[in-house]
Amino acid sequence: MSVKAGGLEFKNPVLTASGTFGYGLEFMPYGDLSRLGGIVVKGLSLEPRQGNPGPRIVETSCGLLNAIGLENIGVEAFIRDKLSLLPWDRTAVIVNLYARESEEFGELAAVLADQEKVAGLEVNVSCPNVRAGGVQFGQDPALVGEVTRKVKDRAGSKPVMVKLSPNVTDITVLARAAEENGADLLSLINTLSGMAVDIRTRRPCLANTTGGLSGPAIKPVALKMVHAVCRAVKIPVIGLGGITTAEDILEYLLVGARAVQVGSGNFQSPDKSFQLVRDLENLTGELGIASWEEYRGSLEEWGR
Ligand SMILES: Cc1cc2nc3c(=O)[nH]c(=O)nc-3n(C[C@H](O)[C@H](O)[C@H](O)COP(=O)(O)O)c2cc1C
Repeated sequence: MSVKAGGLEFKNPVLTASGTFGYGLEFMPYGDLSRLGGIVVKGLSLEPRQGNPGPRIVETSCGLLNAIGLENIGVEAFIRDKLSLLPWDRTAVIVNLYARESEEFGELAAVLADQEKVAGLEVNVSCPNVRAGGVQFGQDPALVGEVTRKVKDRAGSKPVMVKLSPNVTDITVLARAAEENGADLLSLINTLSGMAVDIRTRRPCLANTTGGLSGPAIKPVALKMVHAVCRAVKIPVIGLGGITTAEDILEYLLVGARAVQVGSGNFQSPDKSFQLVRDLENLTGELGIASWEEYRGSLEEWGR
């Protein structure tokens, strides 16, 4: 079941997605964290953040809309209070980085570069750049390149994964910008921009008015983007978006992903990711999949 990708090693292809699995420790009552392929922790910034006022998460008919606003305890508190309690020697702990300027991304990488308990860094570029008037880093290839380079330069030997935003015209352009500037891996997708309104109160359902859509609704969109990006770059790709079954995981691997992350599925049931590891083992046995190398990207396209 193990997977090697961009300098990282996972005991199986099932990782948890940032922001949907806390700092990992919250899920200890529901399963053995060391059984997971990897844990991507909540996005961390240099300073603690309170995030947006509520309501900041709402369920739609086909997924979740959230505008949490990157609430987190700050990178120093994570290192001091949480990191050692995770089974970092038995599963890959990946820290998701959040910043409002590219310099800050570099500073975060420098703080984490010599933390032996951290396996790798994931750069969340789906956040506004205050220097560029609030434009998301992830929507501008030049900014994606700049942030990737800043993190890579200060990350020491830590593999750097850039997490792409789907809210763009052509995601392969952003994928190449990250690759050309030193990214070791890519992960995609982050949430899709969306909105929900309440016809009775006549208010947006989220205090922030708009938010990010996740869950089963976004899986076909994400799968298409993962398929396209796997063909556009040489570095490994981690796929995510709407995964709730082992079949979903195999779909991502079939189009070329090296591993996956489970996000909103963890809200359906807190033991979801643990269950998916077991289900994937059973399903690969049932389908006679002998190795990931043979299965990955083996999609047979229809002739044109
Ligand atoms: C409540 C919530 C919080 C999230 N926080 C983060 C975050 O801090 N950093 C990040 O890169 N992505 C964050 N995400 C995005 C997820 O990691 C993931 O990319 C997205 O939800 C799509 O996957 P899914 O459909 O499996 O949920 C968050 C998603 C949700 C639902």
